[in-house]
Amino acid sequence: MGVDWSTKVVLLTGASSGIGRALAVELGKRGARIGLTARRADELLKTEEEVVRAGGQAFAHPADVRNPDDMTRVAERVREKWGKIDILIANAGMSTTTAGTHLKAAEASDVISINVLGVVNCVAAVLPDMLAQKSGHLVAISSLAAYRGLPKSGAYSASKAAVSTLFESLRVDLRKSGIDVTVIHPGFIRTPMTANRKKKLPFLLEVDDAACRIIRAIERRARTYAFPWQLAGLVRLLKHFPNAIYDRLASNSSFRD
Ligand SMILES: NC(=O)c1ccc[n+]([C@@H]2O[C@H](COP(=O)([O-])OP(=O)(O)OC[C@H]3O[C@@H](n4cnc5c(N)ncnc54)[C@H](OP(=O)(O)O)[C@@H]3O)[C@@H](O)[C@H]2O)c1
Repeated sequence: MGVDWSTKVVLLTGASSGIGRALAVELGKRGARIGLTARRADELLKTEEEVVRAGGQAFAHPADVRNPDDMTRVAERVREKWGKIDILIANAGMSTTTAGTHLKAAEASDVISINVLGVVNCVAAVLPDMLAQKSGHLVAISSLAAYRGLPKSGAYSASKAAVSTLFESLRVDLRKSGIDVTVIHPGFIRTPMTANRKKKLPFLLEVDDAACRIIRAIERRARTYAFPWQLAGLVRLLKHFPNAIYDRLASNSSFRD
């Protein structure tokens, strides 16, 4: 809403694929300058080319969100190039099936370290300068899976619940600091993350549509934004279901194979 993206510098994680790449391209169309990061250098370069073709400016800096020093270096490079970071979009994430009957500690640890500690590392890399400049915007891509423990999704649901509550705490702590805090809860989006699911995913959205909705939520500085409304309404309702009813419903409706 009235945001002049050509004045904005964005640091975007998970920019080599899916929602991250679509966000980068849509922000590029709006003229933003974007520091792109993810681990795969070749895919990041493809995103960089797409952003430039779309009319934006971008540079790719491969890094692993699990490494705090990596994230500090990425943030430094963006500030060296463009003098500031206005918006962090902490989007990098992974998803895996973790059936409670076959819980594997190493798999859960990967999900938690990328989805939770990765977000913490990104925030820690940009926050001191945002506090000093008394402005900025922290955005995290959580999930509707944050609302309740979904079947076969223990690690993923736990990681996204952690991101959502982390951002809620940040929002409270950063009140009056000049820094906005937004947490996005998408439903199912067609990306490489959901590509191999055999189960039909309800209200599946195309990735460009999702990116535009996320950008609109950032523009209006929403505290939280959950979409699509049909699935967001359902998970909000499920949050208030008694546990015994939730358990029966959820155990019969996994969207994981
Ligand atoms: N698709 C959905 O239905 C859906 C729904 C709700 C929420 N989300 C969330 O949206 C975000 C993006 O997901 P997506 O669907 O776009 O998935 P995706 O296509 O698999 O993209 C995931 C991105 O995260 C990056 N990434 C993963 N591990 C990383 C690490 N250790 N360090 C740096 N980057 C890392 C990947 O890049 P590299 O592999 O190159 O590192 C990739 O760019 C995730 O946080 C996901 O949980 C997705």
